[in-house]
Amino acid sequence: MIIGIDRITYGVEDVELCRRFFLDWGLSLKGENDFESLNGCEVRIRHKDDPSLPPAMEPGSTLREVVWGLDSSQELQPLTDPNGLAVKFRRTRKRSIDVKGVPINTWDKAARVDRPSAFYERAHPVEVGHLVLFTDRLKEMEEFYARLGFVVSDRYPGRGVFLRCTPEGGHHDVFALQTPSSKPGLNHVAFAVRDIHEVFGGGLHISRCGWTTEIGPGRHPVSSAYFWYVKCPAGGLAEYYSDEDYVTAAWKPRELTPSPEVFAEWAITGGIDGMTRRQASGPTVESGTAGRASRDK
Ligand SMILES: [Fe+2]
Repeated sequence: MIIGIDRITYGVEDVELCRRFFLDWGLSLKGENDFESLNGCEVRIRHKDDPSLPPAMEPGSTLREVVWGLDSSQELQPLTDPNGLAVKFRRTRKRSIDVKGVPINTWDKAARVDRPSAFYERAHPVEVGHLVLFTDRLKEMEEFYARLGFVVSDRYPGRGVFLRCTPEGGHHDVFALQTPSSKPGLNHVAFAVRDIHEVFGGGLHISRCGWTTEIGPGRHPVSSAYFWYVKCPAGGLAEYYSDEDYVTAAWKPRELTPSPEVFAEWAITGGIDGMTRRQASGPTVESGTAGRASRDK
């Protein structure tokens, strides 16, 4: 059975730039251009003309290969999905690790007692959680992933399908999206972090490093997750997310109509400035003692 994304490989125009991005993003360097998340999910960057890469589904920097992790040593042949993305399989090399999000106190339950909450200076993603692909053959994409055992979580009829690789688990591992003009391509790769606070901490840090937020923080009504999307030099966007819906075989797929309200309950285009700790109430003072004094109030 497929249990999740085990490795992704990008083919990129600027390897150095991508290396800097993924270090700022919070992955660990394991080889010259090989990274991993906390649980050992691998992210590799290669030059887009590297002859070892499978063909690209679109021009420029993009995702070139996805290796799905299996829970057994079953041998599955490499495939190419209807989008032209190379799909491979291997027994998972991800580790089970002991990382915990911080409990949230709600009105009815104090899950965190005598303990302050978490503040993250930066993110360290746990794993690659899902892929979002533009496609011009939505039906074929759903059929292809269904043959691999994926289950539909929700649909935008004729426009998009959210698929999870296990009947019980996170809301989606693949989301295929078809718009009237869409061609096969990468929309984003999403990295799971521990809790909502790490979404904010990671987004603020990546902003302070000088990378550009597309949209985030924000919250998706479909999947309930908090998100923060950043422009990724390796292709598409990179997303930090947390608090995704966890569904089981009892979950009934919904048919939804795409709209701004279904995409986000709320979201901030361009992100939050990672240096702003307090909104200016008068003239903005950038530096010097006056600025320090006003920030210390
Ligand atoms: Fe996402």
